[in-house]
Amino acid sequence: MYDIPFLDLPPLRGAAGSVRLPGSKSISNRVLLLAGLAEGTTVLRDLLDSDDTRVMLAALRTMGCTLQPQADGGLAVTGLGGRLPVREAALFLGNAGTAMRPLAAALAVLVTLQGGRFELSGVPRMHERPIGDLVDALRQLGCQVDDFGQPGYPPLALHGQPGGRLATQRPIRVRGDVSSQFLTALLLALPLACADGPVTVEVEGELISKPYVEITLKLLQRFGIEVQRQGFERFTLPQGCRYRSPGTLHVEADASSASYFIALGAIAATAAPVRIEGVGLDSIQGDIRFVDAARAMGAVVDGGPGWLEVRRGAWPLRAVTLDANHIPDAAMTLAVMALYAEGTTRLDNIASWRVKETDRIAAMAAELRKLGATVTEGADFIEVTPPAGAWQHAAIHTYDDHRIAMCLSLVAFNPLAATGTEAGVTVRILDPRCVAKTFPDYFETLFTAVEVRAADVPVITIDGPTASGKGTLAAAVAARLGWHQLDSGLLYRATALAAQRQGVADGDATGLAAVAASLHLRFDGERVLLSGTDVATDLRLEAVGAMASRISALPEVRAALEALQLSYRRLPGLVADGRDMGTVIFPAAPLKVFLTASPAMRAERRHKQLISKGIAANLADLRADLEARDARDRGRAIAPLKPADDALLLDNSGLTIDASVDQVLGWWAQRGPFRSA
Ligand code: DC
Repeated sequence: MYDIPFLDLPPLRGAAGSVRLPGSKSISNRVLLLAGLAEGTTVLRDLLDSDDTRVMLAALRTMGCTLQPQADGGLAVTGLGGRLPVREAALFLGNAGTAMRPLAAALAVLVTLQGGRFELSGVPRMHERPIGDLVDALRQLGCQVDDFGQPGYPPLALHGQPGGRLATQRPIRVRGDVSSQFLTALLLALPLACADGPVTVEVEGELISKPYVEITLKLLQRFGIEVQRQGFERFTLPQGCRYRSPGTLHVEADASSASYFIALGAIAATAAPVRIEGVGLDSIQGDIRFVDAARAMGAVVDGGPGWLEVRRGAWPLRAVTLDANHIPDAAMTLAVMALYAEGTTRLDNIASWRVKETDRIAAMAAELRKLGATVTEGADFIEVTPPAGAWQHAAIHTYDDHRIAMCLSLVAFNPLAATGTEAGVTVRILDPRCVAKTFPDYFETLFTAVEVRAADVPVITIDGPTASGKGTLAAAVAARLGWHQLDSGLLYRATALAAQRQGVADGDATGLAAVAASLHLRFDGERVLLSGTDVATDLRLEAVGAMASRISALPEVRAALEALQLSYRRLPGLVADGRDMGTVIFPAAPLKVFLTASPAMRAERRHKQLISKGIAANLADLRADLEARDARDRGRAIAPLKPADDALLLDNSGLTIDASVDQVLGWWAQRGPFRSA
């Protein structure tokens, strides 16, 4: 996961492969609440693990539910069975509308009947997202709800005395034209209020986002509650209805998240389709109808229960005019697909975009314009025309909105667009971590299904003599950028160690090359697995380092390791450290650093390092050894240690690690197309 200020996406040129998507947010938070209110234990499988579900889990725990992770990855939730064991608490719900609304309704009903006081709050944006229509409906029921911040918005306080009564004789009226989540919240909570008679809810105004209400009804059904209804206007919960645990419940993958991979297929899957696992044409989620919209734009979509396969059909894509009210979240992806279409795409009836995680109409318009698109926005529509000329480099603001970050990542396919250039443009996604709201591994998943030219993947090389601090610096720079790291010295050390173990002698160039070519190395956190066993400590032994230094002078060994080193150049970028990263392996790297420190300083660092590991060492010997190794690395005929002509020199003798990292990141910021961003 990228806990970094920005992620640069180089131009992407194709897509293929298979992705498994995380569980649906809408289903996860609904079933968590239902399981939490039901009597008995429900095992939930494939739940989404994200910011929004974590706040729901924390809330349920605070309310007194028991949550027990299962060995097989499921979660066993033992519900309250309609009784509140905890009567007072403050619940923080982040920016999760799917937690705030239903919890407000359920707790309001529970404290009215049983007494208690709960405060519900969230992040500042949550306090700008309307909830007044739900508060009105709950007050009709006789609940005491204080919107003690700004009237009509969270935070809310819900309170009541034991033995209170609910006014259920008359229908509860709720507006349906701002958010369907108000109706959903009532439907999920009202089984708690049906002991003495049926309860009816009537919807005022045209209900928006109907498919989300259908999810609610289907999940209530799974918990034994049959809601009687007339269209989308009147819903009745029968007298005596109770949540009954279905035992085990499987959560489908998120259909809104699938929209990015469906779009990916439509835009870039020309040789083989993109396969999506976890959600299929049988989905109960309304956003599965994104498939129809994608088909209308040209995608070829196949599918069955739990799977989809998508390929490019029409190209360029076809512009569409669409009432997107039924797929409000996934429709954002259509606004990005519009960049790859011929003509103007118009999405109508999307006023709800303005009250989501951010004002999504304004945000999409602003970001698409940065790329060169022509965008017209209205109160409830957006019109997108692709850039007329070449696409512009853009640093995309994400407004703490996961869907903005995910859908706009698709602009990285710009070389494929009609006005895209062969070279393509790099796109910077600011605050990429906001995807954690629903899809923490979004970018990692994306990178497994895209094709990129190796030369487009950015590389920073850090070369320098032994014990100059390259490895530490490279690891820190890689972590700050969210990139991969290649410690090339480790490959030479691993070759030396493997040769020692296999009894291949120092002088046997052919034998050593064969060992190098067949290295089975895998990195797993701090562990380095050589043919399955952890050799992280052995690789650091002086004897291994010395042999590595000797065998690294053999052209056969260097050649045998080249392909392996090049294979580390993967999205979103690579920091490679060693002796010849900038001169031989990645000669066209956009930033090359040559790191030095005085021999005295390097000997001291190595000494400290060894002592800290409990290995006895003598400073004078270490320095002599290090100078001998420098001489050998510099003097060898092949790939001698020297700065590349275009390398920037960094002497870190007097610098802290942080200062060196900042220097390299500062140089990098000057290199890319985002100097002013
Ligand atoms: O950086 P290190 O001490 O882990 O490297 C071990 C040996 O490998 C070192 O003596 C030189 C050699 N090496 C090399 O020749 N080329 C590289 N790119 C990296 C290391």
